[in-house]
Amino acid sequence: MARILVVDDDPSLREVLEIACKKKKWLVYLAADSKEAWEHLNEYPIDIVLLDLKLGQESGLEVLKEIKKVYPELPVLMITAFAETQSAVEAIKLGAVDYLPKPFDLTELFFSIERILEEKRLRRENILLKNKVKGYFGRIIGQCAKMQEVFKLIERVSPTNINILITGESGTGKEIVARAIHEASPRQKAPFVPINCGGLPDTLIESELFGYKKGAFTGADRARKGLLEEAQGGTVFLDEVGELAPGVQVKLLRCLQEKTFRPLGSSEERKLDVRFIAATNQNILEMVAQGDFREDLFYRLSGVIINLPPLREREEDVVLLAEYFLQRAVKEQKKNIQGFTPEALEKIKSYNYPGNVRELENIVERAVALESTEFIQASSLIVYEYENQRKMEVEEVLAGKISLDDYLLQKEKEILLVALQRTASKSEAASLLGLNLRQLRYRLEKTGIEK
Ligand SMILES: Nc1ncnc2c1ncn2[C@@H]1O[C@H](COP(=O)(O)OP(=O)(O)OP(=O)(O)O)[C@@H](O)[C@H]1O
Ligand SMILES: [Mg+2]
Repeated sequence: MARILVVDDDPSLREVLEIACKKKKWLVYLAADSKEAWEHLNEYPIDIVLLDLKLGQESGLEVLKEIKKVYPELPVLMITAFAETQSAVEAIKLGAVDYLPKPFDLTELFFSIERILEEKRLRRENILLKNKVKGYFGRIIGQCAKMQEVFKLIERVSPTNINILITGESGTGKEIVARAIHEASPRQKAPFVPINCGGLPDTLIESELFGYKKGAFTGADRARKGLLEEAQGGTVFLDEVGELAPGVQVKLLRCLQEKTFRPLGSSEERKLDVRFIAATNQNILEMVAQGDFREDLFYRLSGVIINLPPLREREEDVVLLAEYFLQRAVKEQKKNIQGFTPEALEKIKSYNYPGNVRELENIVERAVALESTEFIQASSLIVYEYENQRKMEVEEVLAGKISLDDYLLQKEKEILLVALQRTASKSEAASLLGLNLRQLRYRLEKTGIEK
């Protein structure tokens, strides 16, 4: 039932409105001044305030301001005398939803109130709807076209039983996408079991996956359930699947084909009911072509391939993600931080994130921990740029994009220049670098610093 608060110093008008609202089956609260109004506002969840522009000695505009300060979302409908249009316009500027000039007709009043209530209801439904969708996608932020495609794909494949291969650079969100698919699938109530295929030696991977019988090998002094068994009815997440050794690949392939598995040392085949989601940051097609990954296993695993774009190709999402991580970190670390300064935002936008979303997440969390003001300053955003830059360069050399000689020459030049800057003379620079003067001169010429 809607709760209406009427604030008017005219007792007869209060009475008229009370009777009218009661007919509509709304709950009515009456106040002659701001003091009474606040008593009601503090006590009940009021839906709409009908506020007179002239409250005896008080100004309705002042009361409106106060209400909007405390309850910015609360709709306030002004009641005005004809001569007061100027103030009525002022009231709208201050956040009133509308104004009704006195004498008003009740149908008009009802119409206004009903419209406001309807808007409120729609807004609430909208929020509910959004939260429902958030249930599984809530942790995955992505407005850009590429991520929207990914979301569509997730929605399409989730209800099915098809195996999925997720590809993408490190830190692009492969694991949260895998979890979202599981959560949106009919298997959501059964376990989601991640297995890091790169983290263990081959023999251990097998016993982890398939489990073993007591006495299956020396040291197996009791039976152990494998992860496949743990995941029955649910989803197995094969992380870094490209790292699987050839022997394990064969066994896994059999599992996928026969839909059975056998614990080590056991002769008994068990039925397997799991969905596989695999992930890799390697170029798996290339690996298949090179014979490093079994083609048949690849086809079994990749019923659908979801490729996650690197963050540098998701320009629109960078700020969105930064804001999301900020809010989360502020809550977790219980800090009073309102947002980023414009300079900080610029810095966030201009970086290229070789470590993708995980790197952005780390940068923001670190900034929240370091920040001592109410806004994240650019200086608190510590980017291990140098480290990442170096890693990228190394990759470029390995990929043949830069020649090794050019790379080394460039580095040598950088170091020489810094040494010269930090010292007052060439001989000081030479001793800083552990060279004699002649050796330094030779290097300065070689790198083109001196002719
Ligand atoms: N779109 C996104 N929205 C919100 N958080 C994200 C998003 N993508 C990634 N993250 C967060 O970034 C971090 C890295 O994500 P995740 O572990 O899924 O990446 P990954 O692709 O599996 O990386 P790796 O290949 O290194 O294992 C996680 O903390 C994850 O919650
Ligand atoms: Mg991962």
